[in-house]
Amino acid sequence: QPVETFDLVIFGGTGDLALRKLLPALYHRYADGQIPDDSRIIGIAREGLDDEGYRDNLRKVLVKDGNGSKVEAFLKLVGYRPLDARKDDGWDDFATMMDKDADRIRVFYLSTSPNLFVDICNRLGKYDLNKGKSRVVLEKPIGHDLASANQINDDVGRFFDESQTFRIDHYLGKETVQNLLALRFGNALFEPLWNAEHIDHVQITVAETLGVGQRAGYYDHAGALRDMVQNHILQLLCMLAMEPPSSLAPDAVRDEKLKVLRSLKPINEANAAQLTVRGQYRAGSAEGQAVPGYLDELQDHKSNTETFVAVKAEIANWRWAGVPFYLRTGKRLPERVSEITVVFKAVPHSIFDASAGPLAQNRLVLRLQPDEDIKLWLTIKHPGPGGLRLRHVPLDMSFAEAFGAAQPDAYERLLLDVVRGNPTLFMRRDEVEAAWRWADPILAAWADSGEAPRPYTSGTWGPSAAVALIERDGRTWNEDS
Ligand code: BG6
Repeated sequence: QPVETFDLVIFGGTGDLALRKLLPALYHRYADGQIPDDSRIIGIAREGLDDEGYRDNLRKVLVKDGNGSKVEAFLKLVGYRPLDARKDDGWDDFATMMDKDADRIRVFYLSTSPNLFVDICNRLGKYDLNKGKSRVVLEKPIGHDLASANQINDDVGRFFDESQTFRIDHYLGKETVQNLLALRFGNALFEPLWNAEHIDHVQITVAETLGVGQRAGYYDHAGALRDMVQNHILQLLCMLAMEPPSSLAPDAVRDEKLKVLRSLKPINEANAAQLTVRGQYRAGSAEGQAVPGYLDELQDHKSNTETFVAVKAEIANWRWAGVPFYLRTGKRLPERVSEITVVFKAVPHSIFDASAGPLAQNRLVLRLQPDEDIKLWLTIKHPGPGGLRLRHVPLDMSFAEAFGAAQPDAYERLLLDVVRGNPTLFMRRDEVEAAWRWADPILAAWADSGEAPRPYTSGTWGPSAAVALIERDGRTWNEDS
């Protein structure tokens, strides 16, 4: 179904996110016939480019996996305006261009540093561009703590009300995350078991092989907790742990997610040393290549920014009391993999002889990337004669095999949801605040401890303390898949 004609303006239009993710996502939706030909997509940045120059840059990116004539047709929708959010020059013209069709859906995507948000919104307000069917999209992380997030939300909120504000977390657009909803609430099988009585613990791993590379300027002020855990991983945790919403209506879902965030047990200076591990990568290898350490990339030998974090989180409510959620994420780990593992409790009593082999616990493994897949690990008898020997095997649902074509990128779905005005998969202001309320005391405890993050060699699974964090509890990180 094509969406209504729209204008989409990307501030930070020459940046990495715009060129690598947003514009290719729009191209793919266009090539699939979902974007009407009279829509407009406008990149904005300070660079003095013109439409043609911008299209040339974009063409280079799109031709890699696009169809030549469709790329050209798409590029006709694309334009560029050099604008500085802090100066008036050019804004009049831009406003006139946008006003040509003031009844249109207008999306302003702020893919810039958050310290420009208020200037951009000010100008949009000054030129009345925040009126009508206008929407604003904010990239994560929203701020670097609760106070700065509130400031941003207040500043943007002076020009766009909550229903116009789309706080994006691209993990919510990933296919497997949507599948989590289908799996949990479309099957009778799991929900009765989805609680502390039957689930032993949960693991969420988001591992990357990349280092911080070009993004060191941003990353060094953020670190893994702000960059990945406060948003992506907590959002995954919410989808996994929330009570069944009464419908998929945006606020029905977001109300339930909010309750999870508010039920997270506080981690602070009293327990951060037991419940969290911070790491920072040193030189080592990534995908067979020798790579430098974080501090070398930064050219600063003092940074205490973490590039790895592991946390033992708990949700203090009836459903989840006593069930640990082990979370870990890091750069320069041995493979790129994002996975949620739900480990069920052991059977209460084994009827098998020791010779049958160990009786493993059932696991449900939801893999988000690199390839989408859901595996349910079950115990069966090893086939054939030779007595009753037990084996742990997966019931395997690989999406690529089952459904062929590659799944659309998360941004494809989310950008069209903004155009459609559907905020279900976007973070409401109170969710962002609740997530910071949990993250802030952890960050404060780390800062107060005066300790540096633990070093780990690039190409390993982080500091050994992260292994100890889970093994202390008699459990291990999932390696089955
Ligand atoms: C971004 C983070 O939000 O997500 C990056 O800022 C990270 O540091 C990226 O690399 C990971 O996204 P994906 O979709 O590749 O898992």
